[in-house]
Amino acid sequence: MIENKAYRSIFSPCSVQERKENFDSYWAFTQQHAGELLEEDKDLVNKREKLKYFQDHPVRSRNPLPNPELFYRNYVKFKDDPQSVDRKTLLLTTIYKFARHEWVGISGAWEIIPTMAEAKTLTDKISRVHLAEEFCHVRFFHEMLRTFHLDKVEWVPLGPVKQKIYKIFPRLPGFLMDTPAFVTELMGMTFYQHLDALFEEVLADEPEARQRLREILHEIMVDEMAHVGQRRNFIGPTGIKAAQLMVAPLYRGFFRDIPEAKYLFNIEQMIQEGLAFDYNSVSPQLLTRSWVPSYCQA
Ligand SMILES: [Fe+2]
Ligand SMILES: [Fe+2]
Repeated sequence: MIENKAYRSIFSPCSVQERKENFDSYWAFTQQHAGELLEEDKDLVNKREKLKYFQDHPVRSRNPLPNPELFYRNYVKFKDDPQSVDRKTLLLTTIYKFARHEWVGISGAWEIIPTMAEAKTLTDKISRVHLAEEFCHVRFFHEMLRTFHLDKVEWVPLGPVKQKIYKIFPRLPGFLMDTPAFVTELMGMTFYQHLDALFEEVLADEPEARQRLREILHEIMVDEMAHVGQRRNFIGPTGIKAAQLMVAPLYRGFFRDIPEAKYLFNIEQMIQEGLAFDYNSVSPQLLTRSWVPSYCQA
């Protein structure tokens, strides 16, 4: 379909008309990609099927973690010295913490934004399906952890202050909310690219589990890549400038809350890749399943 090395920066300019056309095209994509919305369950038909496939064909790591208690003691809040903990455990606690932020953010937003029945505009509908997709990601992350025999993971709310911030965020008017929402998606995408690369090294002695984690991650990345373009499409020239300024502080601030991340991930490199993001770094196999704004295609 689309050829690699054929993309422009995610910060490329576009006209108001192009944005309108891209919302139409995203909506057409997301409906066939995600399938019917199951609003009661915060779920989507095609995603549910994918998860069921993973659950019905389980893969489990050959060996449990060296010390599963280390994971359970540190996954919600890191209590030990991360430097004294093995890289596999650090990888899994980082995945949990990243997903937990996502889960808290979307749980707050789900209660606030219009339901599909209440949706008045196309962007309302897009946002509803987008959030349902994020709930599916949390289920996918849960399955990743189960692949490493971690069956007792619970999704714990954040502290009251952060919980409150996540509740206020979706109530903000578009001109305040759209830029950080875009940068957050971009951060997700660059984080997942780093995670994908890290699987290779950290899970080298677990080829089957590594393959399964990668399959699950790619399911998420196909969506995230589309979210990046979709949220980009909400902002105009001022938002673009603000977004570029926001990349570094937002990434740094976010990962400050995951103290073990810096032992595995190069956060500064992630920032550079976020600023340079143009889809050329994404494999063609994932790109053909996803969606890219027309103005980011050369
Ligand atoms: Fe997500
Ligand atoms: Fe997303």
